[in-house]
Amino acid sequence: MAAMNMERDLYMARGEGETSYANNSRLQRKALLENGAALEKAVREVYMDLLHPTMTVVDLGCSSGQNTLIFISKVIKVVCPESSSRSGCDPVELQVFLNDLPGNDFNQLFRSLEQFNKLTAAAEHEENTPLPPFYIAGLPGSYYTRLFPRQSCHLFHSSYCLHWRSQVPAGLEGGGKEHLNEGNIYIAKTTPAGTTELYRQQFQEDMILFLKLRHEELVLGGQMVLTFTVRKHEDIYNKGYLSNPMELLSPALQSFVKQFVVGTS
Ligand SMILES: C[S@@+](CC[C@H](N)C(=O)[O-])C[C@H]1O[C@@H](n2cnc3c(N)ncnc32)[C@H](O)[C@@H]1O
Repeated sequence: MAAMNMERDLYMARGEGETSYANNSRLQRKALLENGAALEKAVREVYMDLLHPTMTVVDLGCSSGQNTLIFISKVIKVVCPESSSRSGCDPVELQVFLNDLPGNDFNQLFRSLEQFNKLTAAAEHEENTPLPPFYIAGLPGSYYTRLFPRQSCHLFHSSYCLHWRSQVPAGLEGGGKEHLNEGNIYIAKTTPAGTTELYRQQFQEDMILFLKLRHEELVLGGQMVLTFTVRKHEDIYNKGYLSNPMELLSPALQSFVKQFVVGTS
């Protein structure tokens, strides 16, 4: 069997149908809305200190639903000339990059931008409030690689993404018995300590790499707003809030696989 390639093989459910990510991302939207104040604060601070006529903001791991559009709206609102006190300065132009892995449904995302632009223009007209000119581009690629030239970005945002690893930890792919996680799709009570350790190491490597890369790409005084799931307890087997649904999902998936395998054999 071919080894899994995270960048190529994993992506959120495409399209806008009933089972699409776009229609099943309320939890992620809640996090985005709850962290709205932190995002607005960071955007405002970066904006007030801006020396360049263009402010470059990036949504890392944008996926293809409404959530990334909410992010863009929030940024536009803060940079709106009337809501700012940057008096005497030329209006700032916004460059927004929407990044995700190449398998992401960028087609759907680009289609939704058309509607977004129309709605934004209508709101601008209705409220008679000028908005900053904004330019939105898609950027496929892993945020565990360099994505931008040195010191070119003012703000990085990422919501509900950084718990994705860059790869299956080396050592797990071989399938040695001590590294299996039989019966689980998450770290659970029966997960061998060796497996947990491999994931911990992989997280550490990934996070260090991510921070190093973004440090190179950020301008001096740039900011990042990163929201991702964590465990609150040092004891890794102490249930995190994701453990319960994952432990329920795991037997359901296994019985589905069994049925599928039996059904097709
Ligand atoms: C749960 S979704 C969150 C999407 C969106 N930020 C939101 O709040 O709805 C996680 C996204 O992260 C993306 N992702 C995971 N690893 C990535 C990587 N290394 N580089 C870029 N995007 C990545 C996935 O493809 C997926 O679209």
